[in-house]
Amino acid sequence: MSRQFPDTFSLPLPDDFHLHLRQDEALLRYVPDAAASFGRVIVMPNTTPPIRDEHSLSRYREQIMTAAGDAPWFVPLMTFKIAESHTADAVRRLAESGATAGKLYPQGATTNAEDGVSDIRAAWPVFAAMEAQDLVLCIHGEDPSSFVLDREDAFLPIVDQIASDFPRLRIVLEHITTARAVDLVLRLPDNVAATITVHHLLLTLDAIIGGFLNPHVFCKPVMKRPEDREALARAACSDSPKFFFGSDSAPHPIGAKESSCGCAGVYTAPVAMPLLIDFFERHGTMESLRAFCCERGRRFYRVPPSDYEVTYTREAWTVPATYGDVVPLNAGRAVSWTASRPTIISGG
Ligand code: NCD
Ligand code: ZN
Repeated sequence: MSRQFPDTFSLPLPDDFHLHLRQDEALLRYVPDAAASFGRVIVMPNTTPPIRDEHSLSRYREQIMTAAGDAPWFVPLMTFKIAESHTADAVRRLAESGATAGKLYPQGATTNAEDGVSDIRAAWPVFAAMEAQDLVLCIHGEDPSSFVLDREDAFLPIVDQIASDFPRLRIVLEHITTARAVDLVLRLPDNVAATITVHHLLLTLDAIIGGFLNPHVFCKPVMKRPEDREALARAACSDSPKFFFGSDSAPHPIGAKESSCGCAGVYTAPVAMPLLIDFFERHGTMESLRAFCCERGRRFYRVPPSDYEVTYTREAWTVPATYGDVVPLNAGRAVSWTASRPTIISGG
């Protein structure tokens, strides 16, 4: 096994540009896990009820800050769930209350998306209002009416159209899974970027259904073919500023996963950085690790460099079988890197 990285090294505190923090007791349980690894996080709005207006957005931010406790580096960047009914005024109020982005969920595409957008064209005025307010548009890019493995490809023409109609709107195609999505993002102008998860970098559909069924790695969009995974790996390790980390860490209780109607979502927050370091040591460079986890995303979102850094040490630990009642990625298996508590960058 290649050991191109030193056994101890520091990075600016990584950011996570796609994260689910849930509500109530789950929020209290899972925010600290995220805050142990990440600084700025884009918080998804698919709670029940969803984050749709400035009141729910501000309240949710307060709850997250309380749950984070003593983690001054942890900054939730808030999003709202786009509805066709959002007026320009409602979008302006969301921007004024500090929203960073709006999230487009096609209706029925994923967990808690029953109230998503059914007619994407009807949301065009919302995109116009977001462009005017300089809000980022985050897209769950799947057409739920297509065959499951084709859903992302089927949605790409809509992304293309939105990008061409709103040239000043910053657009993030979330958790991309296919070579065709990589190609489209590369072809579109600089205002279009994509997040990639750690599980889509490491796994294919085989991990879910290739052997015994593993519901704990089932997510939307599902992992695809080996050549898709390779295209994602090349994009993450490339020099392009368009591809950056968004974990899509999405905890669901064991009972909701090991079920005849199991929920989509993989819990990765506690293991994402050790697994990413390992991935980039094998396939990339220290520079690509830093760009993917600490630089490109914050530049796209126009967030300043982190004031904090983390030291990673090559020191193996065994991932617990559960965090609360959630089974994490790599449960019961060893990962190779241990992270320090974030510290302020001296002189910063
Ligand atoms: C996410 C969730 O559980 O909230 N699930 C998932 O499979 N990724 C929603 C999402 O991002 O699609
Ligand atoms: Zn998600």
